[in-house]
Parts: sequence; structure tokens; C-alpha cells
Amino acid sequence: MFKFIAGKYLRTVIYVVFSFLLGCMVTINLTPIEKTCTIDNVDVGYNIMQNSKLKNPELVILILSATNNLGKRDTIRETWLKLHRETYDNSKFKIAHYFVIGSLGLTADQLLHLSSEQSTYNDILILPVHDTYKTLTEKIKKSFIWLNDQLDYGLGFKYILKCDDDSFINLSYLPQEIINIEKNYISSDITYPFQPTSERGNRYLSSNAQVNNKKLKGHHLSLYWGYFSGNAKIKTTGKWAETDWIASDRYIPYALGGGYVLSKNLVTYIAKNANNLRSFNSEDISVGFWLAPVNNVLRVHDIRFDTEWVSRGCRNNSLVIHNISQREMRELYNHYISQKTLCSEEVVRRNYYIYNWSVPPSQCCKPSDQIKLSKNTST
Ligand SMILES: *[C@@H]1O[C@H](CO)[C@@H](O)[C@H](O)[C@H]1NC(C)=O
Ligand SMILES: *[C@@H]1O[C@H](CO)[C@@H](O)[C@H](O)[C@H]1NC(C)=O
Ligand SMILES: *[C@@H]1O[C@H](CO)[C@@H](O)[C@H](O)[C@H]1NC(C)=O
Ligand SMILES: *[C@@H]1O[C@H](CO)[C@@H](O)[C@H](O)[C@H]1NC(C)=O
Repeated sequence: MFKFIAGKYLRTVIYVVFSFLLGCMVTINLTPIEKTCTIDNVDVGYNIMQNSKLKNPELVILILSATNNLGKRDTIRETWLKLHRETYDNSKFKIAHYFVIGSLGLTADQLLHLSSEQSTYNDILILPVHDTYKTLTEKIKKSFIWLNDQLDYGLGFKYILKCDDDSFINLSYLPQEIINIEKNYISSDITYPFQPTSERGNRYLSSNAQVNNKKLKGHHLSLYWGYFSGNAKIKTTGKWAETDWIASDRYIPYALGGGYVLSKNLVTYIAKNANNLRSFNSEDISVGFWLAPVNNVLRVHDIRFDTEWVSRGCRNNSLVIHNISQREMRELYNHYISQKTLCSEEVVRRNYYIYNWSVPPSQCCKPSDQIKLSKNTST
């Protein structure tokens, strides 16, 4: 008898919890946009990091995606996400990845597919936003808020890499490069004017540190790393038009959205101030704008981040390549696995530039064909 009642009670509890989960993640009409589902630890969609076997990763990869891009997600799962496991011992440099998807406005069918994908992979961060290009900035804010909430659960991380589901990430080398950047820039003592010794002769990087206290040790610096633009004029027409931009006649220097790395402090800063930060159409432009006044930020421009809206070609030493198809992604991966080089042939579609931090942003970014990549340049 007792067993029977307990069983019945348990069923009710399960039913209630399940309904709660549905209310949060699935029954979208009932969820106000501003409400994030942080209330309950059993909320698997919201607390996948807590439920994950992989706690306290060094790097969290946020891959912005959309419900219907299952093919792209599977391609990523079957290609570059595997590179890390193939190259590193995951106990040394832990990486967690999440596909970020908005759940508002989805059909019952889409929601069903999404939950089944989540129960298979447990790697989707489902956020209460609509999935359109207009909400990318909200997605970034909410993802950062989520990450910041994870800290309250005692789940830390050191860096995030934001990319898209048409980005290829060189996960067989990026962890090593993060360690190199830490060693050369962040843990070594810095002197001003800022010029890390490692950068002399390094043809990939140019960096700048914004600090008030010049006696500060390097380890206080936060990292903002990617391929920066400073001279882009404000778009006034088209999909990415910013209609009330008054800050300047250019965008504020920002790392292009195909892939950039931020250290934890910057993620936390944005998360804590999210409600007061002005959102623009483009997520990457917004992040550059938000971080403009922040102290102790090290900006590293890296030509191995091929993160513009279309790829500059194929280079064996790329760390990120953006705007590539699923077919290209598989080709790159297969070529790397069989030949240990990324490109079957190196192709230059457009020249890169080394960001010049000592001139005004409008003159920062002149493409140069003088600097040739060669095998013996390294960090
Ligand atoms: C990653 O970069 C390293 C160093 O440049 C290179 O040797 C390697 O081939 C690249 N791997 C992939 C998968 O891109
Ligand atoms: C690259 O971006 C352009 C513009 O958004 C798009 O039309 C094209 O399909 C993209 N290419 C790939 C391979 O994703
Ligand atoms: C890139 O890899 C391809 C294929 O292995 C090779 O032919 C080419 O020489 C490499 N490029 C450089 C600069 O190493
Ligand atoms: C940046 O521009 C200044 C002024 O034109 C020039 O003297 C300097 O060499 C440039 N620095 C780099 C790294 O190109």
C-alpha cells in the first residue's frame, strides 16, 4: 500500500518536474522572453554544464546555430570537434562545446527534434530567444549570462571561443596556442610601451594592452583575441544596417564574428551589465563596443583567424576558417586526417592585414601582400 502511494506520489512529482521543464524549454508560448530558466537544477537544457561529465573546462566553445541546421551541427560533431580528442589528453586541456539555439517560436515538430537531439548529445544550449539574425546579439548576451550563472554553481572556465556553425576550428592546435598566448603575454611581466618580446619576428600577431596602472603584472590582463577590424564604415542599408549609431563614423575596433576568444572576466563583465548594454544588429560589433571602455584588456589580432564574412582562402596554419560549407568542412577534416595538413592546396582569395595599433583605427587595416606566410614562423 505504502509502495503504491509512494509510486503514485513519485509519478506526480515526475509529472510536475517534467511539466516545469516543458514550461521552461518547450512550451514556448508560456515563456516570457526575459525569463531564463535558472530556477531548478534539474533543468537539463539550462544546466547542461552542471550535468556534464566535463566540469571546469579551460575553454568553452559557443557555436551559434539554429534549429534547422542539424546537418551543420552533425558535420561539426563529426569533423573538427573530434580533432581535440585526437590530439590532446582531455584531462589536460578540457574543452566543452555548446550549440546555441533559440527556442521561441518553434513548431511542436521542431521542438521534438530538438529535444531528441539534446537527449542524444547533451550539447545544446537552448535559450529563450527567437532564432533570427536580428537576435544574435541577444543570444550572445544570454549565453554569457548562462556562463556567468554556471560560475555560481562552482563551474568555472577560463576562455570562451564564439563561432558560427559554418566555422571550422583547428582544435588540434588552438589549445596549444592559448597556452602560448598565456605564456608570452599574460603570465610574463609586461613593460610599456607594450611590446611582448615574442611578437618581434612573429608575423601572425599584433597586440595592444589597455591599462591604467602600468605597474600591473601581466596576469591581470583579460584576453580579446581574433581578427580585428577598426576601419569599417557604418552600414546604413541592408541586413546589417545600424540605423542609430552615434559613437563614431566607424565601428569601434572589434574582432570579427566568425570566431573570437574572450577570457572569463570579459564574459562576466558583459553578463553582469547585459541589461544596460546597448545591443546592435551585429553581435561582434556589439562586443567590440561593449569592451571599448574596459580596463586591462589585451587585444590580440591574429591573421590565422580567417573570420571575415567570407573566407580569405585556405591556409594550412589557420586556427579558424569561417563561411565554409559542410562539404568543405569534411574535405578539410579528411585531408588533415590523411595528410596532416589542412589544405590540399593553399589558396589566397584575399589578402589579410596585420592590425596596426599605433595609428588611428581608420588606418589600422591595410591589406599587405608583402608578408608571406612561411612554415618557419611560429609563436
Ligand atoms: C592546425 O594548426 C597547426 C599549426 O599551424 C597545423 O600544423 C595543423 O595542420 C592545423 N590543423 C588543422 C586541423 O587545421
Ligand atoms: C558565405 O556567405 C555568403 C554570404 O552570407 C553566403 O551567400 C554563402 O552561401 C556562404 N558560403 C558558404 C559556403 O557558407
Ligand atoms: C599546405 O599543405 C599542402 C598539402 O600538403 C602542401 O602542398 C603545401 O605546400 C602546404 N603549404 C605550406 C606553405 O606549407
Ligand atoms: C604602423 O604605422 C606606423 C605609421 O605609419 C608605422 O611607422 C609602423 O611601422 C606601423 N607598424 C606596423 C606594425 O606596421
